[in-house]
Amino acid sequence: MFAREHIEYEALDLPDRMDLSDAEMLAEAKAFYDKMKRRHTVRDYSDRPVAREVIEECIRTAGTAPSGANHQPWHFVAISDPAFKKRVRDAAEEEERRFYEGGAGDEWLKALEPIGTNDDKPHLEDAPWLIVIFAQRWGHFDDGDRFKNYYVPESTGIATGFLLAALHHAGLVSLTHTPNPMKFLNKMLGRPEHEKAIMILAVGHPRDDAKVPKVAKMKKPLDEILTIAE
Ligand SMILES: Cc1cc2nc3c(=O)[nH]c(=O)nc-3n(C[C@H](O)[C@H](O)[C@H](O)COP(=O)(O)O)c2cc1C
Repeated sequence: MFAREHIEYEALDLPDRMDLSDAEMLAEAKAFYDKMKRRHTVRDYSDRPVAREVIEECIRTAGTAPSGANHQPWHFVAISDPAFKKRVRDAAEEEERRFYEGGAGDEWLKALEPIGTNDDKPHLEDAPWLIVIFAQRWGHFDDGDRFKNYYVPESTGIATGFLLAALHHAGLVSLTHTPNPMKFLNKMLGRPEHEKAIMILAVGHPRDDAKVPKVAKMKKPLDEILTIAE
């Protein structure tokens, strides 16, 4: 895809132009907020399967995200194989045990108390899909030469946000899980050294008795997260 002849500037007329009235815009913005505020991080998964095509479409959405110089410095590994998920769980729980037994430090552990998490991670096996998100420090031209990527954490974070929104829009729930450190994922998933695993997303349907921590519903009000200069 990154052939050298594609890197010269060429202008296209803006495709896909939107033309909403002010009232329609406000209605769309409100409807989207209404949808997104119903997204919840879920840790209790049912065994209802999710078709691979749904996961592929959601990752296609993630791939439309903006990125520094359009380098798209991300790679997604989607896992449904139970044996593979078990290996991820076992390795993640080993890291988590170190984390919860002191590696995290008191302040971090205190911050996690209201969320109710611990080193037991059944969702890594129960969820029908795990999506591991890798950030790429550099990319490669078609001829194999490498080039530096820019704004890698920002770009990958935005793509992950698109993915979370797409999964929610498709009626799925997810959990952004971050075992610390995540180096074991490169070896296990055969990803190269220049890629850094930033997150494991568990994806699926909630169990009938799924719970969420009460504090997770406490979102900062608009006047705390927004300053307007007009
Ligand atoms: C970068 C990041 C890392 C997270 N890591 C974990 C994690 O390792 N384990 C976990 O149970 N939740 C994790 N979460 C989920 C948060 O606890 C959750 O987003 C927060 O409590 C708010 O709940 P909500 O997503 O339902 O709004 C993480 C979220 C983010 C954005």
